[in-house]
Amino acid sequence: MSGHGEAQVMVSAKSGPLSGVAEVPGDKSISHRALIFGAMAIGETKITGLLEGEDVLDTAKAMRAFGATVTRHGEGSWSVNGVGVGGFREPENVIDCGNSGTGVRLIMGCMATTPISATFTGDASLNKRPMGRVTDPLSLFGTQAFGRKGGRLPMTLVGAADPLPVRYTLPVASAQVKSAVLLAGLNAPGETVVIEREPTRDHSERMLRGFGADLTVEQTDEGHVITLKGRPELKAQTVAVPRDPSSAAFPVCAALITPGSDILVPGVSQNLTRNGLYLTLVDMGAQIEFLNPREEGGEPVADLRVRYSPDLQGIEVPEERAPSMIDEYPVLSVVASFAHGTTVMRGVKELRVKESDRIDAMARGLEACGMSIEEEEDVLIVHGKGPGGMPGGATCATHLDHRIAMSFLVAGMAAQKEISVDDGSPILTSFPIFEGLMNGLGAAIRKA
Ligand code: S3P
Repeated sequence: MSGHGEAQVMVSAKSGPLSGVAEVPGDKSISHRALIFGAMAIGETKITGLLEGEDVLDTAKAMRAFGATVTRHGEGSWSVNGVGVGGFREPENVIDCGNSGTGVRLIMGCMATTPISATFTGDASLNKRPMGRVTDPLSLFGTQAFGRKGGRLPMTLVGAADPLPVRYTLPVASAQVKSAVLLAGLNAPGETVVIEREPTRDHSERMLRGFGADLTVEQTDEGHVITLKGRPELKAQTVAVPRDPSSAAFPVCAALITPGSDILVPGVSQNLTRNGLYLTLVDMGAQIEFLNPREEGGEPVADLRVRYSPDLQGIEVPEERAPSMIDEYPVLSVVASFAHGTTVMRGVKELRVKESDRIDAMARGLEACGMSIEEEEDVLIVHGKGPGGMPGGATCATHLDHRIAMSFLVAGMAAQKEISVDDGSPILTSFPIFEGLMNGLGAAIRKA
């Protein structure tokens, strides 16, 4: 919950076999970008399938504050009348991005090269997260940032009146930082270049091209070299937001560990920058069929038939896969608990600066549920107890983190005793229909 409401204890009891079709909501990353690019384009962008979670609604509000007209027409159906690149007006009030790191970092990027100031804040989780990773490269354009100690929100950005183009090599594998620099580069003259050594989600690149920007990606020894020509006229688009593979992860993983399950999860992205979890589950021996491969909303997708998989084996997850499954390690650590043997997740220290320190949150919660866990700064190791092996019977702390809450509710579906979470309200940030969807498949999740 983006600090707007009360904590909500939720409980997950042992579930019967899951069956049916799990239609998860729109992709969070693409939903934020559809609103932001729409606000920077000329004309009316029409969006269908927009995720109506709190994170995205906060971004919609922010785009209004910068001068765009954002209208909801029906469920998931929205339009944005944009103000054009460089056309943002100065917001009259503080921009509250709630729980959303993606929202605040992308919005900082898109106002950074406009001669206006804006002050950003968020909830208790967001106000702990590092913003220096974005304000450092933005300062190269001439943007000034005045925040709290450690580069924390609340923070005021003074946009560059006379921006310079930038060449920047990402020091961390982060699509948010990459996107913030590209968005700032839109209103800088000349060419802005971002170099990423490890590929991260490429929605900004795909969508910027779709909105008419001149953007090229070259594979070199340094990694991906992304070159954007500044000051394009972005043209309004029709955006069909595909379903969110990070949300699909929860019913998929629940079906794998819940005896007798057989479900269909349609339209799951097979974008190579997002599908690391699914490759890993297959490596572990998961029974997943990838049916009807096709393109939806500009993304390669497939329908997933997922069956209970009692023979899951622990594995060493390839480290280079981390950026393509970064949000899925919490729920993978739940699946690993029900596998035979040990699962080793290396190169995962970025998890420590997400909505919570996800390594610590999962380690402590899984230990409370009776699992044996090892943890280092950059590593999480789960010693699996096999099918039905997790004792459960604990209340796990979610630290304002939606994915931690959903992961432990999935664990409760197959553990020996009920598992509670101290606060399920953050689930509304990304997957508002989680409880109804999971119970519709056969889960027994309830508010306490
Ligand atoms: C996102 C990028 C990732 C991811 C987040 C969404 C995006 O963050 O964890 O949920 O939409 O660009 P980082 O860029 O910090 O890795």
